[in-house]
Amino acid sequence: MNRYFISFGIGCLCLASFFVSCSQQSDEQKSEVPEKKVVKKVWKPEEVKSSELALLMRAMWDSSMVRKGQIESGENVFAYGDLFKEIHSANATDPTVLTETFYAFAEVYQQNMEAVDAAQSSEEKKTAFNNLVNTCVTCHQQYCQGPIPKIKKLYIK
Ligand code: HEC
Repeated sequence: MNRYFISFGIGCLCLASFFVSCSQQSDEQKSEVPEKKVVKKVWKPEEVKSSELALLMRAMWDSSMVRKGQIESGENVFAYGDLFKEIHSANATDPTVLTETFYAFAEVYQQNMEAVDAAQSSEEKKTAFNNLVNTCVTCHQQYCQGPIPKIKKLYIK
């Protein structure tokens, strides 16, 4: 629903950049805005199209959620270490984010994925996995703050 209907109040604020999820407001912030008239947004074709990096990130979130469940239930977690190598080559919605620092973060992300694969006991896996989620959050603090509340749902308590 959210993708197609937005409340008019916040619509004014972020209509232009709404499809760039980096600038989306978090759920907490949204709930503070009183609900007003709901208007239907008509998307331009270039707004509907997602970048390679955005699609990759959605897949990263999905598989990390699956992996979280596996670690929590003590299932034998198979290796994901080389699943997201495209992070080094994918096009981004905003190409200016793809700096050397971005790729340095991407490298740490990759290493932390491998550390989860390498961890033996379930306690070690849990620590390594939360460390991995930290890497997501750290890079997002630099480049893309919108999805941070969603990413934090991945932490294993
Ligand atoms: C190296 C930096 C970096 C790391 C590490 C990183 N992200 Fe991202 N993420 C980005 C950038 C930049 C975007 C914006 C992509 C775009 O719009 O082209 C993004 C976008 C997203 C999105 C929004 C995608 C959409 O629907 O538009 C989600 C969700 C996301 N990331 C989740 C994650 C998760 C989960 C992790 C860790 C498993 C992670 N990210 C690790 C930089 C990073």
